[in-house]
Amino acid sequence: MNDLAPRPGILDIAPYVPGNPLAGGMAKYLNLASNESAFGPSPRARAAYLEAATELHYYPDGGSTRLRSAIGAVHGLDPNRIVCGAGSDELLTLLARGYAGPGDEIIMSAHGFAMYPITTRSVGAKPVMVPDRNLTTDVDGFLAHVTPRTKLVFLANPNNPTGTAISAEELKRLRKGLPESVLLVIDAAYSEYVVRNDYTAGIDLVDAGANTVMTRTFSKIYGLAALRVGWAYCPPAIADVLNRLRSPFNVGTAGQMAAIAAIEDVASVDRARAHNDVWLPRFASEVTKLGLKPHPSVANFLLVEFPDDEKRNAKACNAFMQARGILLRPVGVYGLPKCLRITIGTEDEMRRLTAALAEFLA
Ligand SMILES: Cc1ncc(COP(=O)(O)O)c(C=O)c1O
Repeated sequence: MNDLAPRPGILDIAPYVPGNPLAGGMAKYLNLASNESAFGPSPRARAAYLEAATELHYYPDGGSTRLRSAIGAVHGLDPNRIVCGAGSDELLTLLARGYAGPGDEIIMSAHGFAMYPITTRSVGAKPVMVPDRNLTTDVDGFLAHVTPRTKLVFLANPNNPTGTAISAEELKRLRKGLPESVLLVIDAAYSEYVVRNDYTAGIDLVDAGANTVMTRTFSKIYGLAALRVGWAYCPPAIADVLNRLRSPFNVGTAGQMAAIAAIEDVASVDRARAHNDVWLPRFASEVTKLGLKPHPSVANFLLVEFPDDEKRNAKACNAFMQARGILLRPVGVYGLPKCLRITIGTEDEMRRLTAALAEFLA
């Protein structure tokens, strides 16, 4: 008999299912499954990455010092309150590890990012899933689920996979309604795409108190998903906790160098946002013309609802597209089995996908 067992709850975790096939084989696919950048990184970031090849035998700068300075300069933030991580995923996990444990509860949207329940269970805490209202985070619902056991709230704004966001006012109302002892984590992975003027990524809320953190990523608009770089903007005491918990060299040299070049190439980010701003509504309108239902989105992806009949439903469409090398994201695990999540790609990619959708529905 094997007496070795993992901690209670670990085997209740359903492992994360990624949208991409094996590393190194993406070129043969039209990949619209993982909300990556349509254009890839700035050429300057690619050059910086290649330059890092001369330093592979050295450990990276464990404090991501130059990267934190570059982020601070672009966003007007104190670098001492920034912590970098191996993707924002790592930072979300460290926040849960730092502030929640067995018997605690973490609040999240029922249609929230799939890593939240995984991270929550990994620290022995219980995920508390709050139903959305019109596929949008329900602030009153979040507040109604607070108990003395609540330690943390994960909120993706914009949310993945719905693509919806709550306003700055709503976000403020959420923070105000939560007890001071509850950490609010605003996951702003898609914030660079948002062009609504009633939106905040959350920097103001972090500055306003001691119990709110904002996380960001280089995996989306900056096109560096393969390098795994994210950052958190924190009150000083929370930055201190993250720095104690993280592994000493959690972001590699190539990732740090490419991310510095990417964030400094503001024109490249503006171009990516402008492209999304044209193609998000254009693709939504094409999808509507085809008789499908796009849900409103402010991010770089669209949640599309399919009819119920077996030949035209989301599952059939996904199989049809896969057979043509087109990768979309089924969102059954997010409780949305009638939908597929589709990333906004290049103009050519969106035209190819629209033609394939028309063929599927014909
Ligand atoms: C809402 C949200 N948060 C965080 C992440 C993780 O990003 P990273 O690549 O920085 O770990 C994703 C990735 O899809 C996401 O959709």
